[in-house]
Amino acid sequence: MFKSASRRLMGSQATLALGRAPKAPSQPPKIVEKTPYPLPTSSRGVERRRLDDMHHGIARYLKQLTFAPIENPSQILELGSGTGAWSVEAARTFPSAEVIAADMSPLPETLNTLPNLTFKQMNFLEPFPFRPETFDVVHMRFVLMHLPQPDNYIHRLASLLRPGGWLLLEDVNHTLLDANRPIGPGVQALYRGYREHMHNQGVDPGVGARLKKMLETSKKFTEVNEIVIPCYMNPNSTEDLALQELGEILKYSIDGVYVGIMDKVGPTGGITPEILRGWRKEVNDPERDLRIDMHLTWSRKL
Ligand SMILES: C[S@@+](CC[C@H](N)C(=O)[O-])C[C@H]1O[C@@H](n2cnc3c(N)ncnc32)[C@H](O)[C@@H]1O
Repeated sequence: MFKSASRRLMGSQATLALGRAPKAPSQPPKIVEKTPYPLPTSSRGVERRRLDDMHHGIARYLKQLTFAPIENPSQILELGSGTGAWSVEAARTFPSAEVIAADMSPLPETLNTLPNLTFKQMNFLEPFPFRPETFDVVHMRFVLMHLPQPDNYIHRLASLLRPGGWLLLEDVNHTLLDANRPIGPGVQALYRGYREHMHNQGVDPGVGARLKKMLETSKKFTEVNEIVIPCYMNPNSTEDLALQELGEILKYSIDGVYVGIMDKVGPTGGITPEILRGWRKEVNDPERDLRIDMHLTWSRKL
């Protein structure tokens, strides 16, 4: 049902392959004010691979850039572009649009970018350096959960859009759910540390589950659409191969988040090697049916 609905909504298929194109202009490294983002801000190495794998896992599952029925956009903004994978696909899918990728970390120098893609370095905790009602599309994925007072961003994001433009807001509900039984002590111990750490940073790791309500109550959009993708930790939980793959990627990706917090913040981040081992044992337990839900929304500005 999900796949046929998606085909109906948008026929164009986003291509995954990055072709040869001019290299991204190298960005002078700039000091960005402290933010709650817990992971390395450099988009090199392990963190870069983690983000790219997630992007490609999602793209393989969706088979398109977005379900929003976007037509002839001229200005597209991605806030929190990470490795630039989504922005490159947007620039390729809409070659006559100008795409701006924005992040506090520069795009990787090795990225094969496109002539209609530019990068802007910024901190989203500060006012956006754009005129109101500039963009036809604003995309923000896995970023809102790292911003304090996320509810305030709905109005800020809406103000960037032209009337009729699309806000593509996407996040996980960073909570493991088990369809069949209570969560075990390993996951509980990890969550105690992780949630406390995120709470101390003033951010909401469960914001994904609130997106639809936040968008609806803002009264800034004529339509608010959402799909929820269950990312299973146990491949036996689903027969859908793309979902199995996405679940596997998510599992290793969130493991990377915990390792990142452990490395960057140390024991005060609430995650120790022992806690991590307990978590790993439980998420890999073939008797369990654990999943994390990914919430993808697309909303049309009034
Ligand atoms: C989890 S990554 C997601 C990257 C990309 N959207 C994706 O889906 O692969 C979060 C990104 O948000 C950026 N970020 C987090 N907080 C930020 C802030 N306050 N200002 C600017 N960028 C921020 C990080 O640098 C990182 O690239």
